[in-house]
Order: sequence, then C-alpha cells, then structure tokens
Amino acid sequence: MQSKTIGIIVNGVTGRMGYRQHLLRSLLAIREAGGLPLADGERLIPELVLVGRNEAKLADIAGRHGLTDWTTDLTAALARPDVQIYFDAQLTSARQPALAAAIAAGKHIYTEKPVAESLTGAVELARAADAAGIRHGVVADKLFLPGLRKLKRLLDGGFFGRVLSVRGEFGYWVFEGDWQPAQRPSWNYRAADGGGIVSDMFPHWHYLLEHLFGPVRTVTAHTATHLPRRWDEQGEPYDATAEDAAYGIFELAGGVVAQINSSWAVRVHRDELVEFQVDGVEGSAVAGLHHCHVQHRAATPKPVWNPDLPGGEDFRSQWQPVPDNDQFDNGFRAQWEQFLSDVVADRPHQFDLWAGARGVQLAELGLQSARDGRRLPLPELA
Ligand SMILES: NC(=O)c1ccc[n+]([C@@H]2O[C@H](COP(=O)([O-])OP(=O)(O)OC[C@H]3O[C@@H](n4cnc5c(N)ncnc54)[C@H](O)[C@@H]3O)[C@@H](O)[C@H]2O)c1
Repeated sequence: MQSKTIGIIVNGVTGRMGYRQHLLRSLLAIREAGGLPLADGERLIPELVLVGRNEAKLADIAGRHGLTDWTTDLTAALARPDVQIYFDAQLTSARQPALAAAIAAGKHIYTEKPVAESLTGAVELARAADAAGIRHGVVADKLFLPGLRKLKRLLDGGFFGRVLSVRGEFGYWVFEGDWQPAQRPSWNYRAADGGGIVSDMFPHWHYLLEHLFGPVRTVTAHTATHLPRRWDEQGEPYDATAEDAAYGIFELAGGVVAQINSSWAVRVHRDELVEFQVDGVEGSAVAGLHHCHVQHRAATPKPVWNPDLPGGEDFRSQWQPVPDNDQFDNGFRAQWEQFLSDVVADRPHQFDLWAGARGVQLAELGLQSARDGRRLPLPELA
C-alpha cells in the first residue's frame, strides 16, 4: 500500500496533555498502526517535529519513542517547508502568539483549548486563519468519548422526545500539594498564568452543549476559590488566585436548560469523573466518559415522597446500560484522524477556531456573570 507523509510540529509535548494524549495515544499510535488510511487507499504517516523549551526533556522524549526531530526554536520549525501542521498543547497563556505565528507561516492549525485567553484574541486567530486559507481545528475530545457518543446516538435516534434539561457534574479533589503532590500543574490555580476552572472547562461545555443540544444563548455563573492556598511543583506554598469551582446555568436555543458544576474541590461519589443527566419527555439518560444508562418513560418508577418510610429503593438498578454496538478508540486519536483527513481532503474541520472562539466567549462571559452577579446573553460572533 502506498503512503505519504505529513509534517506536524508538536509544541508542548513535555506537558500532561501534549505527551500522553496527543503524542503517545494519538500521533505515535497512528504511526505504529502504519499510518492513517485515507479515502484514496493511501496511508498518511505523521512525521513529527517536537518543540519545547527544554532540550534535555525533548531529547529524552524523542529518544524514548524513536524520534529524531526536535528543537527549541519554534520560529525555525515554522519556517520548514516540510511541515504542514502546527499543533499546540502549551499552557494556555502561551498559545495565542504561537498560533498567530503558525498561521502567519501558512501552517494548518490544530490546538488544545482554550484557543486564547480572551475572546478578542480568539476571534483574531479565527479571522487570520480564514484569511490565510488554512485548515484549523480545536480539540473537542469529550464528544469523542464512548459515553458521549452513546448519548449522541440516543439523541439522533429520538430517544428523549423533547429534551428538557441537562445536569452535568464534573470534578474531583485536586490535592493541595503539601502532604501529597497535586495531580494538576500549579499554573491552573494562578489567574496571571491563565489558570482557573472556567477557562479550562467552559470551552468543553460549550462545544458539548452546542453540538448535542443546541447553541448556548445565556450564561449565569457563580465561581469560588475554595482552596486559597496551594503548594507548587517545588513544594513551595502559593496563593491560589484563580477560581477552583464554577456553578453554571446555560440556557440553550430551543429552551433546554443546562446546569453544570465544575470543581477541583469536590470528592467523587459518582461512577465517573464527569456525568451528564439528560431528561426528556420520553426518557432520560446518564452519560459519563465511558458508560451511558437510560430509563424510558414506560419503565419509569413512581417514587412517592414519604420521609417516614425508610429508604431502600435501589434507584440505580432501574436504569439500563446502552450497549457499545461499536468499537471506540481513544477520543483524542479519533479527532486527530478526522482533522488529518480533513486537511488532506482540503475541507473544513467541524470544530474549528470559530467553535474554539465561542468556547472562549462562554468562559469570558461566565467569569463576567460571576463578577457582576448577572445572567448574560451570548452575542453571535461575526
Ligand atoms: N482537552 C483536555 O481534556 C485538556 C485537559 C487538560 C488540559 N488541557 C489544555 O491543555 C493545555 C496544557 O495543559 P497541561 O495540563 O498539559 O499543562 P502542563 O503544565 O502539563 O503542560 C504545559 C506545557 O506547556 C509548556 N510551556 C510553554 N511555555 C511555558 C511556560 N512559560 N511555563 C510553563 N510551561 C510552558 C510546558 O513546557 C509544557 O510542555 C492547556 O491549555 C489546557 O487548557 C486540555
């Protein structure tokens, strides 16, 4: 079988997401599978140029995975004619200038979210990308997770009838870092470094709500910094200046009400780290990362509120698992494959920089709503 190559800069490859999800589970996995099968029968082999700030770390990662092409000079990498795509998984505050430079160099863009720290910056990027005629994509990984793909299947199959509401619960306890190391980087908790759970999670909630249930029309949010003091990677204490919890209500076009709690200061008493309950007239579903359970109206029990009776009804057993009926690959890899196919076919990617900008808009207005104590409309982006 014939193959062709595509050069991809992977910037931020030493980070959690850049290394594990994008390099290991996506790009290297595609290479190890002999490349991505294309519509014309050829296979596409990603040729990777690792970019970062630390030579020793890059050399180590490259060495461990049989890669030889790495550099700390992004400008030089962007000047290479054998590179077609720039991918960014740097920390959020470093993203916008790097994406702007890559667009100016004529590279196609694929990037982690949020695409920029401000809506103005995100819109500038989307406009510049369109003007440059390049292809652009933003990670929308949650939609590629098995649980949410099953939920989408239920929606497409009309299972719910009219959808009434969506309730999402996301979060887990992120250790403060004193007596046990924190399991997230410390910049996440510093506003000046682009941290905060709103800019981290609202972009996810935006593409998820928009794609599954309809455009988001208003946001009402309350935020909190529940843990004001944390300890960094060196064990030094610091003030947490960014919010670590956000309680949001989102009204969608068509009348669906979504309510999503996001918190790094909550202990998990759920089946998965994120779960969404969708209630519709005909039935309800609870979807997480992997699983999805349903209850149809015909099988809905009739609980009666009576505090004098002891509990004991096993409500969870009254739900039915939705079968896989499919093989689900890693979600990040699945979207990489779609993006690469789109670039080769020269067609737009569904989750583009405009979708990314709408996610940043929701985060920005969510923070403003929390500051002002007001419900805010989301104007359509031109
Ligand atoms: N899609 C998802 O589910 C998901 C999950 C977590 C994080 N993210 C996003 O991925 C991005 C990276 O997050 P992460 O958790 O991997 O972070 P991380 O701290 O583990 O990695 C950050 C990367 O940026 C690089 N970097 C560049 N300039 C830097 C600077 N000045 N200071 C510190 N690091 C710098 C680091 O070397 C490292 O490679 C963020 O934008 C975040 O919002 C996405």
